[in-house]
Amino acid sequence: MTAPRVTPAQPVTVQGMRSGGKVERCTAVIMGAGGDLMKRKLMPALYYLAEQKLLPEGFTLLGVGRDPMEHGTFADAMREALSNSDEIKTVRDETWAWMAPRIKYAYGDFSASSAYDSVEHCLDEIEADVPAEERNRLFYLAIPPSVFETTLEHLSSSGLAPKTAEPEYRPFARVVIEKPFGRSLETARELNCVVLEKFAEHQVYRIDHYLGKETVQNILVFRFANPLFEPLWNRQYIKQVQITVAESVGIEARGKYYEEAGVIRDMFQNHLLQLLALAAMEPPIAFKADDVRDEKVKVLRSLRPLLETGKPPVALGQYAAADIDGTHAAGYREEKDVSPTSVTPTYAAMRFDIDNWRWKNVPFYLRSGKRLAKRTSEIAIQFRSPPVLMFGQTELEKKAPSMLVMRVQPDEGISLRFHVKTPGAENELTPAFEISPVDMDFSYAEAFGEDTPPAYQTLLLDCMLGDATLFTRSDEVEVAWEVIDPLLKYLEAHPATELPSYPAGSWGPVEADEMLKAGGSQWR
Ligand code: BG6
Repeated sequence: MTAPRVTPAQPVTVQGMRSGGKVERCTAVIMGAGGDLMKRKLMPALYYLAEQKLLPEGFTLLGVGRDPMEHGTFADAMREALSNSDEIKTVRDETWAWMAPRIKYAYGDFSASSAYDSVEHCLDEIEADVPAEERNRLFYLAIPPSVFETTLEHLSSSGLAPKTAEPEYRPFARVVIEKPFGRSLETARELNCVVLEKFAEHQVYRIDHYLGKETVQNILVFRFANPLFEPLWNRQYIKQVQITVAESVGIEARGKYYEEAGVIRDMFQNHLLQLLALAAMEPPIAFKADDVRDEKVKVLRSLRPLLETGKPPVALGQYAAADIDGTHAAGYREEKDVSPTSVTPTYAAMRFDIDNWRWKNVPFYLRSGKRLAKRTSEIAIQFRSPPVLMFGQTELEKKAPSMLVMRVQPDEGISLRFHVKTPGAENELTPAFEISPVDMDFSYAEAFGEDTPPAYQTLLLDCMLGDATLFTRSDEVEVAWEVIDPLLKYLEAHPATELPSYPAGSWGPVEADEMLKAGGSQWR
């Protein structure tokens, strides 16, 4: 089938969500500027914003790191990071000439107050000629979670980021907190307590970078800007939903972090539950931060407890060494900083049930893993069979049911599979009336002819604009932990001596297939 025609020449600006406002003069203070996140994600995102002239003239980037360095040396390191970045095709001289003088650096140990003195000193210089009400600051915590609390306390007690009651108050002081937000319900609550003692909720931006992905935002537009699908978006027409976030890479150099986190903390508590919430939520009153977040919280609160029947509906696994296309891929236990007897799961599949009027008895199967057969993230909505199969298409309904697939990445787009008559009249050669599945496919790249913006670009812009729609609110983080925490506790109380393993480059352990088979279904 041919791709549907899209007319990207006539876009409509949506008010509220990503409000289209103008970024006010501000300084982005990146705590942890010597780290990987800065080089791989934040700097490329800021560069793109500069390239598109979305940063204000009065913008400054103040990197804060542990190594002593001159402003110029730091700027050179950032220039090099851009050249090595996969996300940047070319660094344009004109854009760099605009950025370089706006890049400053301060150093210190985040747990010592002297670091905040040097930040203050730098900010004083940067803001010397800036009117008091325009001394806006955005503090980005690109630092290990172990120093989140101390850093927040210092930012507050030093007066660098004062608590303000009203979102309209100027100058603004905002804090952006990277994931993981806590490693259990208890620690997430503790962190929220510190955050909300020192800052007002409107000053806090908790990152889940999946929400910044263009295709993830499109879930809401697709659902609520079209009258076509929403009437079908319920238990009457939908049989099951499968959400997959598969990665072909292993844990790379993050053995230490991953041993502590495992796939459940790393992917499910945040990204996968967010995808589920967006796919399942009720229409919000408006595309405003609190309206959207209220609806997400409601869905998460409607999830049936994973331990309701005693044993959680979960299949776990860990990747084992294998040859992938002639190249040896190490097993998880052979990775750097990983124990040779580790039982940390690198794969999980879970069944969720949403006990509300819309979704009762529609299973949501979620799976995610490292070193799977290919990199793909998608939400697949499987429709029910027609009530009467008058064409005898029982097998077709089993093998290729009608389905809507939202491809989050790569090859971003949406496809709809439905059934048509295979051409040809019934005759001696083709005695049976045949039905085939076909796909109607929309591809972002084909329709709009350009790459979708990277998530961090969207998120950085939004927190400078003061739009928190794509960030998680304190209650939302906690309710997601309420869902996941009992499972983690159960797994701790029933430690596995061995985990089912799956060969690197495969689709995960057989236990995950069996879980679906038990429900009369299969992974797509
Ligand atoms: C991060 C996880 O939050 O998301 C990583 O810590 C994972 O382990 C990454 O690889 C996946 O993000 P993306 O954007 O590559 O799908």
